[in-house]
Amino acid sequence: MLILGIESSCDETAAAVTEGPRRVRSSVVHAQHDLHAEYGGVVPEIASRAHAEKILPTVRAAIDRAGAALDDLDAIAVGHRPGLIGSLLVGLSAAKSLAWTLGKPLVGVDHVHAHLHAPALNDAPIEFPALGLVVSGGHTTMYRLTGPTQLERLGATIDDAIGEAFDKAAAILGLGHPGGPAIDALAQHPDADDRALDFPVSRLGPGSLDFSFSGLKTAMLYAAKGRPQPRKIPGKPEVRVEPAPELTPDRIRNLAASFQRAAVRALSLKVGRALEALSERDDPVRTLIVGGGVSANSRVRSELESLASEHGLALRVPPMDYCVDNAAMIAGLGAVMLERGETSDLSLEAVPTTAC
Ligand code: KG4
Ligand code: ZN
Repeated sequence: MLILGIESSCDETAAAVTEGPRRVRSSVVHAQHDLHAEYGGVVPEIASRAHAEKILPTVRAAIDRAGAALDDLDAIAVGHRPGLIGSLLVGLSAAKSLAWTLGKPLVGVDHVHAHLHAPALNDAPIEFPALGLVVSGGHTTMYRLTGPTQLERLGATIDDAIGEAFDKAAAILGLGHPGGPAIDALAQHPDADDRALDFPVSRLGPGSLDFSFSGLKTAMLYAAKGRPQPRKIPGKPEVRVEPAPELTPDRIRNLAASFQRAAVRALSLKVGRALEALSERDDPVRTLIVGGGVSANSRVRSELESLASEHGLALRVPPMDYCVDNAAMIAGLGAVMLERGETSDLSLEAVPTTAC
């Protein structure tokens, strides 16, 4: 069974062909980072235009590299939620046109859920029940899964996604966009001191399984640029800023390492809490699944590896290529849905929010 996957939810135009749910025949990703870099974040209109330009060559390349022809495809899977509406519509229109002209089934896939299928690509099936953590530029969400498409949401960020916090922190330090990989690289430098600054780790009250990263982002801003002081002189409008130490390469490294330590600590704290809460249920989880761009982070991988082994769980993280947005995860999860008869008709809509 050959599935074409199409992904255009944010700033990657991607297409892939998988053979069933797990075997990747081709995966083509066209990233738009250079187009958005000067704005320090993704500009939706620029993203949609770039998708419109790249979608057909990307689909063509994926089919060619798979050694397949259009007629060989058994279904077209497309990430139709969540994402930027203009971006989603480009991939969705391409997928609908192909499904209609080829007379093949259309499968609408949730992008966030697909991130949790990514560790199964070119690898063994995932054992369920599992605790799933999606950590990306747009999402920080934790689920209990009893199957690839059976998810119960346990918690999510109440403000910024963790990847967004990494990107903003990197922008404050002048490291370019997207800055997660740059922070990760600096934090791994042998001279980086991850305890140089005591950044806050959000807890959000005793049993909370939600996340918060906006306080950490503000703490980085103050540590790098100075802390505003409460106005002391009546009638004087200007906010005084207590100056921060100079941003030397040494300090930038220490800020990056300390930021990464606090951000990842917040994740492992909530994963630990979730595992404790789930241990009281009848059917205990066997696997910890992590997906999304931030699952490429070295510290995320090592801390969650330790946590998983402490709890006797298998840790499933995607290979690096399938951490960030890609269409192989869409095709793979699409194949699972196709096997279950979960296809869509041409009225399938682009939806900005996730299903759960
Ligand atoms: O999954 P993804 O490609 O897009 C969304 O669905 O949002 O994730 C992109 C995010 C960006 O915020 C990027 O900075 C972050 O993943 N990222 C990392 C690393 N590699 C990518 N963050 C921290 N450390 C990394 N090594
Ligand atoms: Zn994503």
